[in-house]
This record gives sequence, C-alpha cells and structure tokens, in this order.
Amino acid sequence: MSRRVLLLGGTSEIGGAIVAALARRHPGSTAVIVGRDADALEKAAAALVNAGCVSVSVAVGDADALDTHPALLGELFGSGGFDTVVLAVGTLGGQAALATPREEALALLRTNVLGCGSLLEASLQQLRSRGGGTMVVLSSAAAERPRASLAYYGAAKAGLDALAQALGDAARADGVRTLVVRPGFVHTRMTAGLRPAPLATTPEAVAEVAVRAIERGAHTVWAPPALRWVLLVLRCLPRPLWRRMGI
Ligand SMILES: NC(=O)c1ccc[n+]([C@@H]2O[C@H](COP(=O)([O-])OP(=O)(O)OC[C@H]3O[C@@H](n4cnc5c(N)ncnc54)[C@H](OP(=O)(O)O)[C@@H]3O)[C@@H](O)[C@H]2O)c1
Repeated sequence: MSRRVLLLGGTSEIGGAIVAALARRHPGSTAVIVGRDADALEKAAAALVNAGCVSVSVAVGDADALDTHPALLGELFGSGGFDTVVLAVGTLGGQAALATPREEALALLRTNVLGCGSLLEASLQQLRSRGGGTMVVLSSAAAERPRASLAYYGAAKAGLDALAQALGDAARADGVRTLVVRPGFVHTRMTAGLRPAPLATTPEAVAEVAVRAIERGAHTVWAPPALRWVLLVLRCLPRPLWRRMGI
C-alpha cells in the first residue's frame, strides 16, 4: 500500500533516504517535506521524485519557532493527513564543550531538544487525533551516554530520545507507533570534514534499518544494528575510565 509521508527536516540526507526507501517499498507513495529554505527544499523534492515518490510538495517551517508548530502541523495534516512522520531535524555544532560560545550552546539545545520536542508533540497530537500512524524520530547513539566532546548535542538528543519514548508509549493507545532511530556516525553534510567514527555508515544504510524496523513495529533501532551491543558495553564502563577514553 502506498504511503503518505511527512518529513520534518526536509533537506536532511538521512530523512530523505528514509522517504526514498519507503517509496521503493510502497509504490505510489507521496511526501511533504518541511524546512527553512524553500530553494533547498525544491531541490530535495526533485531528488525524492527521482527516487520514486509519485509527488513531493514542500512547506516552510522552522524548528526554533515553537509557537508556530501546532498550527503548521494542523495545516499540513489538514491537506489529507499522513500515515508516517519522520522527524529528522538536527544540528551538530562545533563540539567544543565548554569552549562552545554560549549562544551556540543554547541554539543547539533549542533546536535539538526544544524545537524537535515541540515538533514531536505537535505531530503525535495530529496522528492520534486522526486514528494513528507511525512516528519516526532521529535520535543518536550520542544520546546513550553523556560525552564531553558532544555535550550539548548529546544532552539534547538524550532529552529528545527520552521524550520520544515516553510520549510514544502514551500515544500507543491511540494507534500511534513511535520508532526511535539511534544512528552512529553517518556520512552526511552534518559530519562532513569530521574523522569517521568506528562503524560509520551511510544515509541509505540507516534508511534500510529504519524501514525494516517500521515494518516489524520496533520501538528502537540502532544503525548499524551492531552499535546496540557496543553501546551496551560503553554504558557500563566506570565513569573515570569513560572520561579517560576522551571520546
Ligand atoms: N549524520 C550523522 O552522523 C547523524 C548521526 C546520528 C543522528 N543524526 C541525526 O539524524 C538527523 C538527520 O541528520 P542528517 O545527517 O541527515 O543531517 P542534515 O542533512 O544536516 O539534516 C539536518 C536537517 O535539520 C534541519 N534543521 C536544522 N535546524 C533546523 C531548524 N531550526 N528548523 C528546521 N530545520 C532545521 C536542516 O535544515 P536546513 O537545510 O535548513 O539546514 C536539515 O534538513 C538529525 O536529527 C541528526 O541529529 C545524524
């Protein structure tokens, strides 16, 4: 059956790969992609049509404009509804911990936890009021254990991840399935110029993992899947050892 997908973070490489993978699996699928830059969105829309979506339209919206989210999501769902929402908004920042300028630190927290949390809440409200659907949230392996080098991004993702789990559980009774995706290092513009971490992967590989997880109704996946076990070990390391590892 075809899908009707809403992608928040419409120019995201991982988000786009998930929409494309869904379109390959479900011929006839359509998408609406939402982001800040209309020109960049048009390019992303054209790429998704090439990748197999029957039609892709664009809408402008900013994750930081919290007050606009309920009306924005209401308007988008009002045009026919969606069975799948993918939340792929995110900013990584300069990763300098205490050397991060305060403005940049607050912006990382604002977008990655407040902005994404607000979009998540508004999306779940729409899905549940329309009888259900699937909510896919791009969290991160960085959400699993605080790291000095990714302090603000990791803390924000930990908050978003927790919120997605808790609100996702709450929305299940209304027919909404929430999938939290925790990728490790993915080669996208977000990580361009950074030294790849072990188990680095591609947007397409993350998308395959996410789409298979949607199909089997999973609540959490790691990409690549082996990261789950690596993180299980890393989470158990004593704090002084973790600190000395300097990652
Ligand atoms: N790449 C990785 O290694 C990796 C690993 C783990 C998790 N993730 C997560 O996966 C998701 C997708 O990342 P990606 O690698 O595909 O990166 P990406 O291509 O840079 O996509 C990030 C998206 O977030 C959007 N965005 C940022 N701030 C926004 C704001 N204030 N309002 C609206 N949109 C905003 C960007 O829009 P603009 O075009 O307007 O900037 C872009 O569409 C993110 O949540 C990221 O944290 C990525």
